[in-house]
Amino acid sequence: MTKVAKTSVEINPLLANRWSPRAFSEIAISDDLLIKLIEAARWSPSASNLQPWHFIIGKKHDETYQKIFETLVEFNQLWAINAPILILSCGEKTGKDGNPLQTFKYDVGQAVAHLTFQAISDGLFVHQMAGYSKEKAIELFQIPNHFEPLTVIALGYMGDPLILPSRMQVSEKAERVRKPLADLISQNIFGTASSIINKLK
Ligand SMILES: Cc1cc2nc3c(=O)[nH]c(=O)nc-3n(C[C@H](O)[C@H](O)[C@H](O)COP(=O)(O)O)c2cc1C
Repeated sequence: MTKVAKTSVEINPLLANRWSPRAFSEIAISDDLLIKLIEAARWSPSASNLQPWHFIIGKKHDETYQKIFETLVEFNQLWAINAPILILSCGEKTGKDGNPLQTFKYDVGQAVAHLTFQAISDGLFVHQMAGYSKEKAIELFQIPNHFEPLTVIALGYMGDPLILPSRMQVSEKAERVRKPLADLISQNIFGTASSIINKLK
C-alpha cells in the first residue's frame, strides 16, 4: 500500500513515500540491514559532534523486544506486536563535564530521521512512538542517569492492513494531511507571511 504525500512541489520520492504504517509484515530483518540503519544514524550531524544517541534494539521473540513491548501503552501494543523490530532510542542528557547538552533531543531526532530514510530506501518502514512508559524503560534496561529514553521505533516491511483492529484499518488507509506550507514560514516578524509563498502556483 502506498500513501504518497500530495506535495505542493516535487520533493525527493523517499520523503514523499515515507509514512508511518501500523501494519507490519512478519518478515524478519537481517542484522546486516539493522547495522546499515544504525550506520545511517551514526553519520547524522549533532551539536559539537557529541553524537548523543543510543539505540536498544529488540528482535521479535528476544528478551529485549519483550521488554520494549512491555513499556508501550495499550493502544501501541495492539499494532506494534506485528513489528519484527522494536528500537528504544535514548539520548545523552549531559556532557563529560556534567553540563546539560542543550540539543540532545534535537540531535537524536535527527539521527532517527536519517535511520528512517535509509530504511525507506531499503524498502522498510518506520513508525515512531512516544506512547510508552519512560519509567518502565529506565527500570527494565537500567538506563544510566545521564541518558533519557526518548522514543520507541517500530520497524519492518509493510504488512496487510487487515491484520489490524478495525478502527486502525481506517487510519491506515486515510489520506496523509499537513498544515498549509504558508503556515510554516515567516518573513521579518514572526507570523508575517513570507513572499516566497507567492511563487507557489
Ligand atoms: C515523536 C513521535 C511520537 C509518535 N507517537 C506515536 C504513538 O505513540 N503512537 C502512534 O500510533 N503513532 C505515533 N506517532 C506517529 C504519528 O502519529 C505520525 O507520524 C503522524 O500522524 C504523521 O503521519 P505520517 O508519519 O504517516 O506522515 C509518533 C510520531 C512521532 C514523530
